[in-house]
Amino acid sequence: MFKKDFPIFSQKITYLDSAATTQKPKVLLNQTDTFYKKDYSNVHRGTCGLANQATSMYEQAREKVANFIGGESKNIVFTKGATEAINLVAAGYAQILKPEDEVLVSIAEHHANFVSWQQACLKSGATFKVFNILPDGRLDMDDFKAKLTDKTKIVAVAHVSNVLGVINPVKEIVELAHEKGAKVLLDASQSISHLPVDVNDLAVDYLAFSGHKVYGPTGIGVLYGKIECLNELPPYQFGGDMIDEVTQEKTTFALAPAKFEAGTPPITQAIGLAVSLEYLKKIGFDKIQKHEKALMKTLIKGLKEIPNIQFLGDPKYKTALVSFNMAGIHPNDLGFILAKENVCVRIGHHCAMPLHNYFKMAASLRVSFGLYNTKEDVQTFLKAFHKAIGFFK
Ligand code: ALA
Repeated sequence: MFKKDFPIFSQKITYLDSAATTQKPKVLLNQTDTFYKKDYSNVHRGTCGLANQATSMYEQAREKVANFIGGESKNIVFTKGATEAINLVAAGYAQILKPEDEVLVSIAEHHANFVSWQQACLKSGATFKVFNILPDGRLDMDDFKAKLTDKTKIVAVAHVSNVLGVINPVKEIVELAHEKGAKVLLDASQSISHLPVDVNDLAVDYLAFSGHKVYGPTGIGVLYGKIECLNELPPYQFGGDMIDEVTQEKTTFALAPAKFEAGTPPITQAIGLAVSLEYLKKIGFDKIQKHEKALMKTLIKGLKEIPNIQFLGDPKYKTALVSFNMAGIHPNDLGFILAKENVCVRIGHHCAMPLHNYFKMAASLRVSFGLYNTKEDVQTFLKAFHKAIGFFK
């Protein structure tokens, strides 16, 4: 239905790896081309018309991104990706945390939202705590409640797991965390392109996502922070555009978000991200969810008909992606045959080793959808998958 909007699909390819990165719509490609040809300049620095135009487009992009998730411009920090956004907060916490404090994350986190906190705890002496999931892939909320204490300073959790596809009960987590005085950072990398994400409704303190997973450019990410949270967080990097005053003796910093945007920012990418978000908004999440749900239903039905499929988590909780294994065949081998058939999937631990350890699996095969996928893509995958199984049996 939407494939025609994405020039890459003029070639014969079955792209089922949108959880890793999404393809780019024509509107974004055209806008990027025009921006470089007509409006390109650095931002916040020059005085000429070009500089003013680029600055105004960059700041408008911030406003559009804010609008997309229900925040305000002052809450939006542009980073190079979700990983940098999370590292920015974790690096700040490494300075804020005391040895008696605790940080709580789930075992299902992507390494970006796991290792950053583990390292912040190592640096500060705080305790790094991990709560479990249930075998069906949902968060173990009893374990969460048991591990959340008055000492917990921050809870870091994904909105949707990049391996399980489960939508986590964010509102409940936030409510419980706030009762204990803990902040919540939400990794929205895998939800932002599939369901409405509203920071007011979710009441999270921080939220991170990557532009390239929501049909936008690479090299751009978003950190949303409540203003009081951004104010108390020390800057992550130092340089131009993030200072208030610099003398030989000391430096005072600009207010957030400028405080966190040292150096020339990803100007073209920020403006491009806003274009992609507008493209998505025009389609609307009702349509996207309905379409992706139907694709999931066809895929799961097809997979369930294959004997010896081992799903990571119960397939009934999946949103736009599913990870699984085939007993007796290494996923790398299956991936090899799928690649020969021009079917793109992801094989490996998907940057979630603790989660794969939980399932006692070293790796899995993941199929993930974008709005451009079709039922024909699912059929092509299933056919190629059957062929791969046949080859190794
Ligand atoms: N985090 C991305 C994934 O899950 C790269 O594939």
